Amino acid sequence: MVKVQNLSYSYEDYQLNEIEVLKNISFEIQEGEKVILLGINGSGKSTLLKILNGLLFAQEGEYSYKGEVLTKKAFKKSAKTFRKEVVFAMQDPAAMLFNPTVYDEIAFGLKQFEFEDVEQRVAQWAKIFKIEHLLKSSPLSLSGGQKQKVLLASLLCIEPKFLMMDEPTAHLDPPTTGWLVEFLEELNITSIISTHNLSLGQELGKRAIVLGEDHSILYDGDIATLLSDTELLVKAQLLHKHKHIHHGVEHKHYHLHSWQ
Ligand SMILES: Nc1ncnc2c1ncn2[C@@H]1O[C@H](COP(=O)(O)OP(=O)(O)O)[C@@H](O)[C@H]1O
Ligand SMILES: [Mg+2]
Repeated sequence: MVKVQNLSYSYEDYQLNEIEVLKNISFEIQEGEKVILLGINGSGKSTLLKILNGLLFAQEGEYSYKGEVLTKKAFKKSAKTFRKEVVFAMQDPAAMLFNPTVYDEIAFGLKQFEFEDVEQRVAQWAKIFKIEHLLKSSPLSLSGGQKQKVLLASLLCIEPKFLMMDEPTAHLDPPTTGWLVEFLEELNITSIISTHNLSLGQELGKRAIVLGEDHSILYDGDIATLLSDTELLVKAQLLHKHKHIHHGVEHKHYHLHSWQ
């Protein structure tokens, strides 16, 4: 469904120097797969997701969706179909909510893509996320967890084929994080979800792609195997050594990043 081949991406700094933030990235995602994209801050996760969403275009290499190479030019022609099939929840849900009410927010995509049963669908998705009582509220007045639910309802109601989420739990408290993990586990959709939280990663999917500090792929495979490879996890900086004092004796041991 998704194929990325030898993809590299650079930003320009203020002196117009090119800063490479994705280096020779290649992977495929088959229909139905749920991929976790891991890597420390700055490794390039958000940039990669933006490329997969057609918001940025790589200078080198190729990205194809359903067999069609997505160049900037090709994208212009297929943008509407692509946007209906491929949805992206950016890191901050608040940045993606712009309608006056929750109802309008969920209805927005449905109207854009000319669904006929807008009202029924809004009601159906509001029920799934238990946000019926919020339909008349302004999205901006909601809590982080409620905003995440509204955003997901507005993205999923158009029945997309490929879901991308960038650090979806960054703005959630522990109970809402638990709810989201359960929801995503049951959701039957091809997806790629980024996080720098290893313990969360293992709950969200079976396959992990790890971006290293050098912006290339450090690992692509089974997440359980990754978790047993301490050396690799340290290299990816997903594990850290901390000093502790236990019973008056200082010692060091590895820790998972369990904070967000
Ligand atoms: N618009 C931009 N212009 C210049 N540099 C950027 C821009 N966006 C991100 N970067 C830089 O690219 C690198 C990768 O960023 P990002 O893709 O956001 O990584 P991650 O999501 O893994 O934290 C970082 O060093 C970041 O500072
Ligand atoms: Mg990011």
